[in-house]
Amino acid sequence: MQRTDDGQVIRLSDYRPPAFRIRHVDMRFSLNDGHTDVETVMEMERAPDTDAAEPLVLDGDALTLIALDCNGVAIGAERFEATPDRLTIRDLPPSGPFTLRIATRLTPETNTELMGLYRSNGVWCTQCEAEGFRRITYFLDRPDVLATYRVRIEADREAAPILLSNGNPGEHGDLDGGRHYAVWDDPHPKPSYLFALVAGRLDVLTDTFETQSGRDVDLAIYTEPGLADRAAYAMDALKRSMVWDERRFGREYDLDVFNIVAISDFNMGAMENKGLNVFNHKYVLLAPDTATDGDYAGVETVIAHEYFHNWTGNRITCRDWFQLCLKEGLTVYRDQEFSADERSRTVKRIGSVHGLKAQQFPEDQGPLQHPVRPRQYREINNFYTATVYEKGSELVRMLATILGEAGFRAGMDLYFARHDGDAATIEDFLTCFAEATGTDLSQFALWYDQAGTPELYVTEHFEAGRLTLSLRQSLARGAAGTGIEPMHIPVRFGLVGPDGTDLAAEPTAGTAEVEGDVIHLVTAEAEVVFSELAERPRVSILRDFSAPVTLRHEQAYEDRLVLARLDPNGFGRWRALTDLVGEALRAASMAGAGRPALDPRLIEAVVACAAEERLEPALRALMIALPGEAEIARLVGSNVDPEAIHQAREGAIGAVATAGAETFRRVRDGLERSSGNFSPDAASAGRRALSNALLMYLSAADGTPALAAEAFRAADNMTDRMAAATILAHRFAETPEASEALDRFYADYAHDPLVLDKWFTLRATVPSDATLDTVRDLAAHPKFSMANPNRARALIGGFATGNPRVFHQKDGAGYRWTAERLGELDRLNPQTAARLATAFRSWRSFEPVRQEQARAALSALASRPELSRDLRDILDRTLS
Ligand code: PHE
Ligand code: ZN
Repeated sequence: MQRTDDGQVIRLSDYRPPAFRIRHVDMRFSLNDGHTDVETVMEMERAPDTDAAEPLVLDGDALTLIALDCNGVAIGAERFEATPDRLTIRDLPPSGPFTLRIATRLTPETNTELMGLYRSNGVWCTQCEAEGFRRITYFLDRPDVLATYRVRIEADREAAPILLSNGNPGEHGDLDGGRHYAVWDDPHPKPSYLFALVAGRLDVLTDTFETQSGRDVDLAIYTEPGLADRAAYAMDALKRSMVWDERRFGREYDLDVFNIVAISDFNMGAMENKGLNVFNHKYVLLAPDTATDGDYAGVETVIAHEYFHNWTGNRITCRDWFQLCLKEGLTVYRDQEFSADERSRTVKRIGSVHGLKAQQFPEDQGPLQHPVRPRQYREINNFYTATVYEKGSELVRMLATILGEAGFRAGMDLYFARHDGDAATIEDFLTCFAEATGTDLSQFALWYDQAGTPELYVTEHFEAGRLTLSLRQSLARGAAGTGIEPMHIPVRFGLVGPDGTDLAAEPTAGTAEVEGDVIHLVTAEAEVVFSELAERPRVSILRDFSAPVTLRHEQAYEDRLVLARLDPNGFGRWRALTDLVGEALRAASMAGAGRPALDPRLIEAVVACAAEERLEPALRALMIALPGEAEIARLVGSNVDPEAIHQAREGAIGAVATAGAETFRRVRDGLERSSGNFSPDAASAGRRALSNALLMYLSAADGTPALAAEAFRAADNMTDRMAAATILAHRFAETPEASEALDRFYADYAHDPLVLDKWFTLRATVPSDATLDTVRDLAAHPKFSMANPNRARALIGGFATGNPRVFHQKDGAGYRWTAERLGELDRLNPQTAARLATAFRSWRSFEPVRQEQARAALSALASRPELSRDLRDILDRTLS
């Protein structure tokens, strides 16, 4: 049964500490086919200074109460009231400890929301963040109630030879009737959202790790039968993560075992349950033949992310869900730093910034805007957003930039020392950095509360050896209820001399403080002056994207072209070039058909990048990729015509392809061919990325599917196969080569769910008029399932976010198809439906006809009476 909307708004300002404490939890699970019995014994007491007459109100969600007693005595019906979502108990002991025993009965087999205890391909598993534990038992299901747990699981030995929960393994043994049991003890107090249980028939890959202080940890990754060998790279990434956290942050693992389970049906990427991470199998299972380089990088990142949560999230958790960025922003920052250290820092940073602009900027500039620390919500599931995660990470990065490496580390050390075992707030976190470094961070704290993307205006003036940089910041509009005050924006910069090296110029005057290569803009406007310069330098500004702002730099076109060629900062170079190309495509798509998008010098700059030996191949691949259609739409901003954008971008691809064909062929031929010895390392992946980017241009120049068809046949890994298939499907849609490749792909991989997802997405993203019929057919395909989130996302999400031309088709048919599917999905899985519905978040930026179509489709969906709270919340905010 799904929760329908009760319209209730939860506010940060209403936070009150819990009136009761739960010190220890003892749980017994009896797993059976068709039902599960749960008995929970809680050691509790009233919090000091609370009213001794106050009843205990426990959270529930769709629960059935079987038994209830206090200190071993049944509680009479007159003393409690149980509904599916609440258990209220009166007349509990006024002081001192007491035990409460609650028995509930669950049916995980019918749990399609995938929150609480459910079954995935027969495996019993749990998901409790944010409020899933209350679907298992009545509880104070809030992150500031921390308890130790002891869990006993009992099940049929055949059906579930593996029985797992949090913490360290305890006693286990056989029982009558083919059943067995296992006990798990978690000595670290934790909030209920970190509880986990997994039971089923699973294969395992094991390894060991010795921590820096010499403790041995048993590592295990569990998979569905026959797939454990596909967890080898994940295991390697786990061990590297464990080493990195010791070296970089002095953080050591704290249990005897670390278990990971890969599950087929999962709403999100993965979950950091204490000692028992549960993963969407997409972020564990890899083989060269089934996974792309992007998949490998994704596994590495998510494995690291969940592992790093052990300290930033688990040992120190959040006081309430408004503080979600405390664990998520910080942990994303940590996983990004890990990837930067393990791979290429520049390439990683470009990828992160690209993601931020593609996901977080539209969110921050549309109806779903909210501060990094929201002040209110109706459904917390809808706040696992790009703003909380990605912008949250940018705030931590700015802190590191402002305080410097040593200051940042000192603040982190103090945070770990002071708050270990706490449920903390953003204020607690910032106070540690302020105290450790003697810095006033009250202005910096505004970043957590003021929503929106600040604009940073920069102008330069050069005269008689004197360069004046004028900076100005503005925030268009804050979320309701906040004033708009200037923020502390750290602006990393360089002054590039004619030979392509940074000048060592020190500022000689100005109103902004400059420290090394960082200008601290703390006022609405400020100036920095450099004198006695022999020549006018090129100003490379906001290097490494040192703040999450929209840069408006008035800079001569010539200067930008020069920076695109020789900014010694790789990020600066990428930005100079892609901004130029982005603006040209924006202008072309607004001017309408027939206007060439790129001027010859820009084309030349793009082509030259492909061949530039001193740039690593991965960076070259990024530099020659034109901004995507969604990115161009964002740059256009209003009155967007996706058709015009598609035409302009295709025109530009054709122009670059024609001009660069010879160079591209030469570079591609020179790239070391993969020799059957596939290696997923960053350098090899970079060569494949460049080679495939070139293949796209060469196919466009050639105008036939021949090259891609040949590449598809020759591919010996999924990266190359997918790249070739995409070119065929997207650029040569109606050709026999394309349908042959798609059929081949299906025949080879129909049995492999993760690869089949790629096939669904590939077909849903073909930018042609026939695709609407295709997606209709695919929704009825025997291999399609609304119940599996990955499959639903592959088709619906693939179409709605990966096919701008057809999703935004002028007659509104793309919108209507999507909205109808969301209505169906909502009945099974509200969380995933709500997340997919955010594909509509920028609907107001389109031209009036499409706006009207989108509004109509959304309103029709919103008018359905039985929507979940999750989807209702997104629709209401999107339409408001
Ligand atoms: N806490 C998880 C992460 O960031 C994400 C998640 C949230 C997973 C809610 C499931 C449910 O790693
Ligand atoms: Zn996380």
